[in-house]
Amino acid sequence: MKKTKVGIIGLGWPGRAHLKGYQASDKTSVVAVCDMNAELAQQQADENDVDAYTDHKKMLKEADLDAVSVCLPNFLHAPVSLDALRAGKHVLCEKPPALNAQEARKMAATAKSKKLTLMYALCQRFSAESILAKDYISKGELGDIYYGRAVYHRRRGIPGGSRSWFVDKKRSGGGALIDIGVHALDCAWWLMGTPKPVSVSGMAYGKFRHLGPKDSNFDVDDSAFALIKFANEATLILECSWALNLPGGSVIQIAGTKGGASMSPLKIYTEREGLQIDIDPEVPSTDAFANQTAHFVDSIQRKKTPLVSSEHGVQLMQMLDGIYQSAATGKETRIR
Ligand SMILES: NC(=O)c1ccc[n+]([C@@H]2O[C@H](COP(=O)([O-])OP(=O)(O)OC[C@H]3O[C@@H](n4cnc5c(N)ncnc54)[C@H](O)[C@@H]3O)[C@@H](O)[C@H]2O)c1
Repeated sequence: MKKTKVGIIGLGWPGRAHLKGYQASDKTSVVAVCDMNAELAQQQADENDVDAYTDHKKMLKEADLDAVSVCLPNFLHAPVSLDALRAGKHVLCEKPPALNAQEARKMAATAKSKKLTLMYALCQRFSAESILAKDYISKGELGDIYYGRAVYHRRRGIPGGSRSWFVDKKRSGGGALIDIGVHALDCAWWLMGTPKPVSVSGMAYGKFRHLGPKDSNFDVDDSAFALIKFANEATLILECSWALNLPGGSVIQIAGTKGGASMSPLKIYTEREGLQIDIDPEVPSTDAFANQTAHFVDSIQRKKTPLVSSEHGVQLMQMLDGIYQSAATGKETRIR
């Protein structure tokens, strides 16, 4: 099979993690990198023996590429992914999928009409613990799943420094919810079997804006809490924060009619012959980013819908939009 030729757009920490992930695979070759910071682009190009660009449109036109990773600030996810899809390239786009569901729908429709793969980088699905938990669930160990809890708290962890776009709604789409809440939400929703969301009730707070980056336009949430209901009558409780007066940490819990799963660390709660049993599975060590980029390339090469599909991107954005709408109106948001 011919190697898939990839370019990376945006060379912050996630962009460099995608690069490393692709390089771990013999099915891929990275041929170009792009960042508006010319020094960073050149440094990464030299280190990896690839071409450097500072303009993604020039890279899409000149470099011999099959696919790109879009690792840019949130407001650039939709326009740059659309540029890449229109140029005939498969796209792996960082989280959150877009600023809102409307953008995500446009991205999905464009990928479909161009018959190209559009996948979102929700890397928690590719951690060793998630893969193992999903395995237990697929074997029926949990029975019918009807409850999920997704928690991602930072006691103090508002993005700062030069990355003030994170706290500016026009460029980020939202705060803690869209930035880290999306990771926890996606992971729990995935383990629950991605049921169709039907309604959302939530609140979002901005209580720590005085701790944000200097001279920033901090108009987003620093914490959010929500209850999501699904068409199969399952419910999911989501809690997330960049700043909260409680300990930081992440917890994903899923419960079904036969058993439950909790992580991290991964624990399975089940019953054998009427006895309650706790299982502590041995979790292999793997690199979630390398698993993620390998899955993207495999989906392209086998022409298969990726695990984090463009449709999942739309539904995730519908849930996030719904929480922000519910917080603003004080009412439950219905999702169609
Ligand atoms: N999956 C994860 O765990 C994870 C972790 C952190 C960030 N992210 C996501 O990755 C994305 C980028 O986040 P970040 O922390 O790297 O942000 P960042 O601001 O630190 O870096 C973004 C990079 O993109 C470059 N850039 C900005 N505009 C550009 C343009 N028009 N053309 C070319 N380059 C441009 C910047 O120079 C910078 O190097 C965000 O969407 C964020 O949500 C994901």
